Amino acid sequence: MKALVYHGPGLRSWEDVPDPELQADGDVIVKISSSTICGTDLHILKGDVPAVTDGRILGHEGVGTVVKKGAGVTTVAVGDRVLVSCITSCARCRFCKEGRYGLCIGGGGWILGHLIDGLQAEYARVPFADTSVYKVPEELSDEQVLFLADILPTAYEVGVIAGGVQTGDTVAVVGAGPIGLAAIMTAKLMTPGTIVAIDLAESRLRRALAFGADITIDNSSADAVAKVMELTGGLGADVAIEAVGVPETFELCTELIRPGGRVANVGVHGHPATLHLETLWIRDVTITMGLVDTNTTPRLLKLIADGRLDPLPFATHRYPLSSVMTAYDTFAAAAETDALKVVLEAEPVLLDAPEPEALAGVAG
Ligand SMILES: NC(=O)c1ccc[n+]([C@@H]2O[C@H](COP(=O)([O-])OP(=O)(O)OC[C@H]3O[C@@H](n4cnc5c(N)ncnc54)[C@H](O)[C@@H]3O)[C@@H](O)[C@H]2O)c1
Ligand SMILES: [Zn+2]
Ligand SMILES: [Zn+2]
Repeated sequence: MKALVYHGPGLRSWEDVPDPELQADGDVIVKISSSTICGTDLHILKGDVPAVTDGRILGHEGVGTVVKKGAGVTTVAVGDRVLVSCITSCARCRFCKEGRYGLCIGGGGWILGHLIDGLQAEYARVPFADTSVYKVPEELSDEQVLFLADILPTAYEVGVIAGGVQTGDTVAVVGAGPIGLAAIMTAKLMTPGTIVAIDLAESRLRRALAFGADITIDNSSADAVAKVMELTGGLGADVAIEAVGVPETFELCTELIRPGGRVANVGVHGHPATLHLETLWIRDVTITMGLVDTNTTPRLLKLIADGRLDPLPFATHRYPLSSVMTAYDTFAAAAETDALKVVLEAEPVLLDAPEPEALAGVAG
């Protein structure tokens, strides 16, 4: 089969690799029909995630059809279309029993495209299938469920739920990339009062309005703290969601927050940030952080099936899976291409496949 293989910092290629085989009774082999690229894949390509080694197939978001299953798999059958989540769950360890699959110590957690081969491939092996893949309702397209593999549960769990967003709250979302936008989308499920989106890029702020933000602040020219204070009568936001992953934005979140407020850090940080305990201690601020567990995936899937949540606006570009190299370039140049999520579609092989450019298009 073909797959997108990591060969060390800056190096990736779409190349021939051996087909994956069942290795344990709980495994399934999935023929990938849709996959996508995450900001974390770009972190890996920068060399920021040393656990990913030369030869690893990348990708931790996918939808596909089960083509083989191990003897122990009972909840999915060959032929089932399934969502493969970024997090797998052994279901047996103490953390999985608490629903904290991201912390799995039984062989699951974030393993796909990290510790084992991932989903930017024609086929993939998924361990612990019974507790790690989700059957896709027939009426939903791949694209409607694909973003449940990562960005929607991440933003909802690590941002909105951990941040304790309540009805009527002023929620400041710092960073309006796919994660920040998904935080805006899922914060709205809680009927907040005002959602303030803060970003440096005008294009991202425009998107934030389209995704449901009420107010935007351009952090490159405006004083975000002063603006939020003005909006909240000098108190600060009830919840600040950090969706960038750099020290400045974490520190900004702690400055935006009202006394007794909550900072939910979603960003993946590569450098230390300063925690100003000398000013924060007396303000009863709560700070949370974490890796997504994906324990809300069934709930979010139901909301999509019920028409209460529409993830399609995240899909700004589409490429055949075989054009994944070009898709990475488009995704990595989001400032120029305005890309949010780039969908990789593995259609049955066409004899006269159109050029990737002909398929790429910006929606919305
Ligand atoms: N915790 C988890 O489980 C988890 C899961 C997935 C992704 N993440 C992380 O979430 C973060 C966001 O992901 P993404 O895909 O949306 O990233 P992204 O790079 O697409 O978006 C980040 C946004 O932040 C903006 N930004 C940069 N500097 C800023 C500043 N100083 N002030 C305001 N805005 C600024 C950028 O313009 C961009 O729009 C990343 O760090 C990613 O690794 C965490
Ligand atoms: Zn991811
Ligand atoms: Zn576990």
